[in-house]
Amino acid sequence: MHEFKYKKNKFYCENVPLELLAEEFKTPLYVYSHKTLVDHFRKIKLAFSEFKPLICYSVKSNANLNILRILIREGAGLDVVSGGELYKALKAQVKPSKIVFASVGKTDEEIREALKADILFFNVESVPELENINRIAKKFKKKANVAIRVNPDVDAKTHEYITTSKKENKFGIDLKVAKEIFSSTDKYEYLNLNGIHLHIGSQITTAKPYKDALKKIITFIKANKIRLDYINLGGGLGIIYDDEKPQTAESFAKAIAPLLRKIKARLILEPGRFIVGNSGALVAKVLYVKDAPTKTFVITDTAMNDLMRPALYKAFHAIVLLEKSKSYFKKLVDIVGPVCETGDFLGKSRKFHKVKSGGFLVVLGAGAYGFSMSSNYNARPRAAEVLVKGNKYYLIRKRETYQDLIATDVKVKGI
Ligand code: LLP
Repeated sequence: MHEFKYKKNKFYCENVPLELLAEEFKTPLYVYSHKTLVDHFRKIKLAFSEFKPLICYSVKSNANLNILRILIREGAGLDVVSGGELYKALKAQVKPSKIVFASVGKTDEEIREALKADILFFNVESVPELENINRIAKKFKKKANVAIRVNPDVDAKTHEYITTSKKENKFGIDLKVAKEIFSSTDKYEYLNLNGIHLHIGSQITTAKPYKDALKKIITFIKANKIRLDYINLGGGLGIIYDDEKPQTAESFAKAIAPLLRKIKARLILEPGRFIVGNSGALVAKVLYVKDAPTKTFVITDTAMNDLMRPALYKAFHAIVLLEKSKSYFKKLVDIVGPVCETGDFLGKSRKFHKVKSGGFLVVLGAGAYGFSMSSNYNARPRAAEVLVKGNKYYLIRKRETYQDLIATDVKVKGI
């Protein structure tokens, strides 16, 4: 459920017609629904309430400070994967004791920053990284909490680029090496090896791979008599983009609860997409409609640099007009941007409602990995972001300007 829908002929976010926002803030424009965001956070919280989990929202999915603040106010912790995300997390004023830090390659500087901030724990993905955190923590005369990210070798049955727990993936530590680590904890004097982390992939629609992974972990914990303070299940819950039938948070929790009860440790979850995915949409303006021999091209001012998912994963996003129209184009339609790449499309081969130059359309399900993966490719300033709450709306990120595009280029004399 989300708060983007037609009321009569106009498309709304909560009680605000998107056309009004497109006129006022121009396009491309990201629009978020406060209600959808908070509702989804609460759904997970409620579904897992038996376990009183710490829900660390995955900052990478959408890192706008206002989104972070809203979720922090709801009780969220944050999952960060870089010094930049840690910086933003602290700026959003989350308690450091609610931050977890993942990433296969943390730099010394990032490790120092996290130790200085006193985060809850690191999710660690290799032996050399363990040794490095141990070495740096020694300098701080601090013991760092560490969850070992294991790679349980399960197939999450999702897009190959967002599958993370097969043995050929770069993520995590296989169980054999993890066993050696847990049996040589005294080697790591400045680490509390007190957690296990799993993140098996993203946009996962069934509980099965989680159950498979958890069973392996439980066997592993029992066989090696491991005592844990934290079990971090990562993120990955899928949402509806097209005709997927993902599990609800409730059915997901129900399915894995019997396994979770066997692990005596605080539950951590790291959802991103589930919370913010359907809370955001991307509004575009139609520049031209081009009738070509085999197709019609609806050319918009919004492109792959604004929303990369279709180009990168051939991801499907529903696209609708802000003003309902009854008739359809005769040919199949590609909705494309102006960027100089054949892969620059928002939607492909769609049966699409007739629209004219100057009309607006909106790409749904763009809240997660939309703005956060956007870029300045083709020297296009990045989009503005607006948050809607009831019948009020707030600019939460200004549109970039041409000056922003050159702000960090260094002008060197004599070359
Ligand atoms: N925890 C870790 C360690 C992760 O790597 C991720 C996402 C999450 C949590 C949150 O996963 P979520 O609940 O959002 O599925 N750009 C891709 C998704 C990449 C996910 C990367 N890791 C996309 O647009 O589909």
